[in-house]
Amino acid sequence: MTAKILDGKLIAQEMREEIAAEVAKLKAAGITPGLGVLLVGDNPASRSYVTGKEKACEAAGIYSREVLLTAAASKAEIMAVVDSFNKDPQIHGILVQLPLPDSSIEQEVIASIRPDKDVDGFHPVTVGRMMLGLPTFLPCTPHGVLQILKRSGIPTDGAHVVIVGRSNIVGRPLANMLSQKSALGNATVTMCHTRTKNVAQYTRQADIVVAAAGRPHTITADMIREGAVVIDVGVNRVEDKTAKNGFRLVGDADFNEVKEKASAITPVPGGVGPMTITMLLFNTVAAARNLRPT
Ligand code: GUN
Repeated sequence: MTAKILDGKLIAQEMREEIAAEVAKLKAAGITPGLGVLLVGDNPASRSYVTGKEKACEAAGIYSREVLLTAAASKAEIMAVVDSFNKDPQIHGILVQLPLPDSSIEQEVIASIRPDKDVDGFHPVTVGRMMLGLPTFLPCTPHGVLQILKRSGIPTDGAHVVIVGRSNIVGRPLANMLSQKSALGNATVTMCHTRTKNVAQYTRQADIVVAAAGRPHTITADMIREGAVVIDVGVNRVEDKTAKNGFRLVGDADFNEVKEKASAITPVPGGVGPMTITMLLFNTVAAARNLRPT
């Protein structure tokens, strides 16, 4: 079997057109959705994500403002920027790019974001509401995964989804969302992680495998059953002397061999990545419309 390639770029484009139309309506009503972005330090991957987010905002008609702090910035300086975004009526959504150079302060910084501006979906109040199935901002990458499945006609209802990876940004919220009694959920979910014994014994039972471990070669063809769907959330830089900037992006799955066995697979790049940014735009517009009940 050769897998259908799930074109996240195309799905993202469709959604961005819907979002741009929504932005135009809001602007006509005198509201320009605004996103405040804080980048601390000069991690090249983070820089590149932030640039992608800004370009996408501009294309959708969303105002974005970036604040850059050096890696040496203190917690107080970081919190002061968040506070200024919290108080700024032009800023409806706030994004603090992770990881912070000092990861020990991440939770405190996230907790200082106003929950009604938490378009990343990382604040404890937002996470709690999601967990309870209450209306809230859904975290962008897992929500992007669900939209790819939905818009590709791949049902989650009754499916066995095996997620490899338990991060706070992807694996754990995705497991929660998929297990909810809701249109995008109703799945039976298994989560594997670094302490799981024999990951392959679980992935081979899956209708849908989500690779979110952050490590190349995590999912190989022998680990999936014929006809499974593979969603690859990995974005790994591997050295490539033939590439312009000396590296290329690969996912967590061995794409070339897995695509010969799966029924559908997301490529890297061009799969989940563009959806993450799209869901951020979606949440920013929702924040501007003040749809999130507090
Ligand atoms: N770092 C990797 N993914 C994300 C994300 O979705 N949001 C933020 N803020 N940082 C990230």
